[in-house]
Amino acid sequence: MAVDKSRRRFLVGATSVVGVVGAAAVLVPFVRSMNPSERAKAAGAPVEVDLSQLEPGQKVNVEWRGKPVWVVRRTEQMLEDLVTIEGRLRDPHSEVSSQQPPYAQNPSRAIKPEFLVLVGICTHLGCSPTFRPEVAPADLGKDWKGGFFCPCHGSRFDMAGRVYQNVPAATNLEVPPYMYLSDNRIIVGVDEGAA
Ligand code: FES
Repeated sequence: MAVDKSRRRFLVGATSVVGVVGAAAVLVPFVRSMNPSERAKAAGAPVEVDLSQLEPGQKVNVEWRGKPVWVVRRTEQMLEDLVTIEGRLRDPHSEVSSQQPPYAQNPSRAIKPEFLVLVGICTHLGCSPTFRPEVAPADLGKDWKGGFFCPCHGSRFDMAGRVYQNVPAATNLEVPPYMYLSDNRIIVGVDEGAA
């Protein structure tokens, strides 16, 4: 996001110069100002994520194809709670195959249960849900075991991105393609099938 903002600032600055030196003279420096990684990112290139600094219970955000992608390091308790709430979920076994690659169609919806990788976009109308890892907060009720809450229309998702029953969203949050490069490093946007 920081890159986008600075680029926008550059564009505003560049626009004001057009009248003085001409469009062609401005365009070349602008294109050159994007380094290769920025150009690749804009085109939807895979994004690497370092997992080594992530503490249990923490989430890190990255951007892939202009979309937020969350990586959460789940605690043992979070993983145990996934089983206890299955009866309150719409698709507890991830049967809607469009919402995850085959290697994430399992109880934790992940390659390694400890690390959850999700596209952070609500499957109702596209808001970005809020990370709510706490158990039984006053506003979400005593049965809340941690997960994601969408402030737009109240959809709820568990700590595997599975949607609860009786909320506007119809499907689980999407798991993007990803793979491990090493024990502490994943790449989002590509997987074994495409590598
Ligand atoms: S966009 Fe999330 S509940 Fe409507």
